[in-house]
Amino acid sequence: MRRYSRIAGTGSYLPPRRLTNADLAAELAAKGVETSDEWIVERTGIRARHFAAPEVGSSELALKASQRALEAAGLEASQIDLIIVATSTPDMVFPSTACILQHKLGNAGAAAFDVQAVCSGFVYALTVADAMIQSGAAQRALVVGAEVFSRLLDFTDRTTCVLFGDGAGAVVLEASDEPGILASDLHADGKHVGILCVPGHVSGGQVLGDPLLKMDGQAVFKLAVGVLEDAARATLAKAGKTDADIDWLIPHQANIRIMQSTARKLKLPLDKVVVTVDQHGNTSAASIPLALDSAVRSGQVKRGQHLMLEGVGGGFTWGAVFLRY
Ligand code: UT7
Repeated sequence: MRRYSRIAGTGSYLPPRRLTNADLAAELAAKGVETSDEWIVERTGIRARHFAAPEVGSSELALKASQRALEAAGLEASQIDLIIVATSTPDMVFPSTACILQHKLGNAGAAAFDVQAVCSGFVYALTVADAMIQSGAAQRALVVGAEVFSRLLDFTDRTTCVLFGDGAGAVVLEASDEPGILASDLHADGKHVGILCVPGHVSGGQVLGDPLLKMDGQAVFKLAVGVLEDAARATLAKAGKTDADIDWLIPHQANIRIMQSTARKLKLPLDKVVVTVDQHGNTSAASIPLALDSAVRSGQVKRGQHLMLEGVGGGFTWGAVFLRY
């Protein structure tokens, strides 16, 4: 009998400070940077985002999301034997945010490491955890996407600073005879490093290079639309399913226009797409688990339904996971 990994519980957390587009536009205007609610909504679908307080790091957001996911799964942290955190905004250069989270949760002994695939990080982490559970290397995994992207934003660059927010989402995956994750498909193409990056690094006690986010939005947009369709189709083919088997598309929440275009290509009506970008902005690796948890808790996503999770982002990286919830 095939051994699957199955979602036992989901959780998420958003820091309390919420800025609407109007709030952000007013803050930016004070710095001489001009934007508007109208432009942001029309080009991206974003209406608000959350920013963490300066002393709050990704591990703290991850902790709250993880506690909620564990509670939903009816498990204690001590029962987890694998912790993977997808993040591009770790608390420290090292150790991993996963190890910091592990200690905060009160778990000792589980394998713990970070995955760095930017906005595709959560589908990468979920695929790794699934493979480890299928192989018998792990029984119960905590898979988290957690980000404080506000720390990387250049608030004088209106083409990027209006797009991103902070938050965390988590799932508990456990071994099961019942499906479960059915298939996944991951890719990267490093020749596109320059279109979305934070080029700075730590060296000799200093940050060298620019530690703020740079993006060629139109290049990212074009690539994203193509690869999201390809990844969904490849994943469906591996699972022996078709477009019609998707109950919910839960894509990376970067821009409503990218999501609409992906849904059109997959012949899915928009009411089968989980949308949280309007309230969260782009939270990078946290966006898919945040959207998943919000859809589970609102009652949109029900047990037995088939979900297509899809990520795309810096690297360039992309991928999809198709699962029975
Ligand atoms: O998580 C990783 C994945 N990231 C993404 O998926 C992002 C993908 N890209 C996008 O979502 C879009 O390309 C953006 C939302 C970033 C930009 O939308 P766009 O429709 O491609 O706009 P644009 O860059 O072509 O800019 C159009 C105009 C420009 O003015 P001119 O040159 O036409 O006079 C910009 O200067 O809009 C201007 N603009 C703004 N105006 C007001 C750019 N940003 C702003 C702003 N407020 N915040």
